[in-house]
Amino acid sequence: MIKLIKSTFYKEENTKKALIQFISSAKKLSFGQECEKFERNFARYQERKYCIFFNSGSSADLVLIQALLNLERFQKDDKIGFSAVTWPTNIMPLIQLGLRPVPIDIELDTLNISSQTLQKVLQVTSLKALFITNLLGFCDDIDAIKKICDEKNIILIEDNCESLGTVYKGRKLGNFGLASTFSFFVGHHLSTIEGGAVCTDDRELAEMLKLVRAHGWDRNLNNYQKKLLRKKFGIHSDFYESYTFYDLGYNFRPTEINGFIGNYQLKYIDEILQKRNANFIKLAPILYKKTKQYYPIKFDHIDFVSNFAVPLICKTEDFQGKLRKKCKNKIEIRPIVAGDLTQQPFFRKYMPFCANNFVYPNSQIVYKQGLYFGNNPDLTEEEIKEIIYVFTEK
Ligand SMILES: Cc1ncc(COP(=O)(O)O)c(C=O)c1O
Repeated sequence: MIKLIKSTFYKEENTKKALIQFISSAKKLSFGQECEKFERNFARYQERKYCIFFNSGSSADLVLIQALLNLERFQKDDKIGFSAVTWPTNIMPLIQLGLRPVPIDIELDTLNISSQTLQKVLQVTSLKALFITNLLGFCDDIDAIKKICDEKNIILIEDNCESLGTVYKGRKLGNFGLASTFSFFVGHHLSTIEGGAVCTDDRELAEMLKLVRAHGWDRNLNNYQKKLLRKKFGIHSDFYESYTFYDLGYNFRPTEINGFIGNYQLKYIDEILQKRNANFIKLAPILYKKTKQYYPIKFDHIDFVSNFAVPLICKTEDFQGKLRKKCKNKIEIRPIVAGDLTQQPFFRKYMPFCANNFVYPNSQIVYKQGLYFGNNPDLTEEEIKEIIYVFTEK
């Protein structure tokens, strides 16, 4: 069976050995130096000023929205556009925190929002922000999307949990908006078992993200930032200063175990991404260009595709059904992310008007006719041959 996820980490044996040593000698395992080192390392890797490390990608999504509300850059009831094909916890925070999510259909040949699908929505409604999802290592014309957002004062934020390492027009995905989120869950590009991050160049936002991550207090800010905050709120007592809660927060801190693994795995990030990209380059021309049973997916406009799974959109539901049978006990497959989010029970419950009155045809096709299999850095040549055979055999 070719599994979606082969291992917990890249170089699993070495990583586990190093982890055992780390745990047995560490003086502290709750949030500390390893996490902060990972934040510096990951910010450098992503070419952003700040990285804030969380216990999951979902927490990163939620905290980003809460932080923008705390800073009053978002107001309750603001309309926020999102990709109709994404992960539920990308948009649940919008509902939970009293914003109005506005679904935007994706393009079938890139699986992403394009400037055209965005423009269509902007003809009928205005948006305060666009929370775009860079799906499965792909993007459409995100540079044109950014231009529209800049012109119309729409705050662009990116959920980059599925596209760490993709480069479009010389720039890494995750670096087009004000901030971007990442997931380090097992099977993603880089695993810390569970983990996530927000990257940004905005100092004020980075500070607020740290505050929201931990209870709303200031303990993870630097001394200068603490001093300013304490002065602003008139906190002059060393008895109370560590127990003052400045704004709405949660507790979504990662542990030193996650931090250590992140630093260890980050040494291999280029190798991991190169291997996944090499697999993709072997598979994609055959599956997308030579095979008529699938809608082709465009990727020539992307400098470097970095995905952890390869999507296929069948031309008919019947054919998708046949493939599901064929893959049983051979290749582990699953629906594409969460399909058309507007049709998921949670969305229908909380956003019935939106779910019942609009259709997102391409997102529907992706849900009903799509599937994906894993693109693991340790896929063997035999496994690649088997994948090609199963998905191209007539
Ligand atoms: C687009 C997207 N956003 C957010 C998440 C949530 O990440 P996590 O599983 O780390 O909570 C995922 C998870 O796979 C995802 O695919």
